[in-house]
Amino acid sequence: MSSPSPASTLIQTITPDALAQAAAILRQGGLVAFPTETVYGLGADACNPQALKRLYAVKGRPKNHPVIVHIGSADQLSAWAKDIPEAAWTLAHAFWPGPLTLILQKKEHVPDAVTGGQDTVGLRVPSHPGALALLQKFQGGIAAPSANRFGKLSPTTATHVAEDLGHDVDLILDGGPCTVGVESTIVAFPDGEPRILRPGMIGAEQIQQVLGAKLTDTKKNIPAPRVSGSLSSHYAPRTPAHLLDREALLQEIQNHRLEMVAVLARFPIPETLTGSRILAWQQAPENAEDYARTLYANLRQLDQYQAAGIYVETVPEDESWSAIQDRLRRASYRG
Ligand code: TXA
Ligand code: MG
Repeated sequence: MSSPSPASTLIQTITPDALAQAAAILRQGGLVAFPTETVYGLGADACNPQALKRLYAVKGRPKNHPVIVHIGSADQLSAWAKDIPEAAWTLAHAFWPGPLTLILQKKEHVPDAVTGGQDTVGLRVPSHPGALALLQKFQGGIAAPSANRFGKLSPTTATHVAEDLGHDVDLILDGGPCTVGVESTIVAFPDGEPRILRPGMIGAEQIQQVLGAKLTDTKKNIPAPRVSGSLSSHYAPRTPAHLLDREALLQEIQNHRLEMVAVLARFPIPETLTGSRILAWQQAPENAEDYARTLYANLRQLDQYQAAGIYVETVPEDESWSAIQDRLRRASYRG
């Protein structure tokens, strides 16, 4: 097993040379996958409609789904957005660089290919040093959705990206495993008031604290297709996933002794179950940060067993788990 997979030749650790090569590829309209603190992004020059066309084709993403533009610092906000509400500046200064995306009124020059034809643009300054170094070297906005095919689990390592996209991407910068692990919190200002469109590890409480004001009800009046992460079946493994509380999960396994299952739970496999047909039991971390950081890698791992189902234990109800609750609901959704 010593021969590298063909895709591994695409992966480069982040060195000045690799960054120069990555920036050159972006300038030529190519695609570069790069690490962020949340998940790996599939990057293209945000001002090059041809490059964006290829990005959408590789993602397999519908054309009316906008992508986030990554920028190097909050100073660049006004190059991309106009009529920026005071609250947006406050959030940018409080949380950037970091896992927060702001949806703002776009400037005229921002291509339709980035915004999905809408009059808004999603902007974010990532905190991963590799992402910041690439932005610095490229000196422009990098449009990047998560570096997975549309609707699948987001990648949190360079190897995940290579497995998913292979040679459809020109270069993969390897910045190690992502430290946050779930996608950024998305905040929009549809009527000037901040609203969370997609929960992330920066939670509503933290945002309210910084703004000194209550957030309006989430998702109200926002049509679903505007945020692809709001499609119910997003972020799904291939194996059907079932979300059950601890008691129901154990009961279900007892009842389906003939089915091969894989499990993601926050407790070790009980001795009473060792005889049943459990292909894999992944014990997930107890706290929300560690759970989030390992979530997609755990689901990918369990997805490899070709089990009849992945049984996932529900997580605590409190706010610090809301991004995880959201991703688990989508992973287990059957419409
Ligand atoms: O953490 C993240 O946000 C990662 C890393 C790579 O930055 N990116 C990410 O991108 O999750 P993506 O494309 O998989 O999800 C971005 C979400 C989509 O649901 C998209 O619809 C929404 O952001 N979005 C982007 N621009 C928007 C806009 N103008 N209006 C509404 N939603 C927007
Ligand atoms: Mg995505």
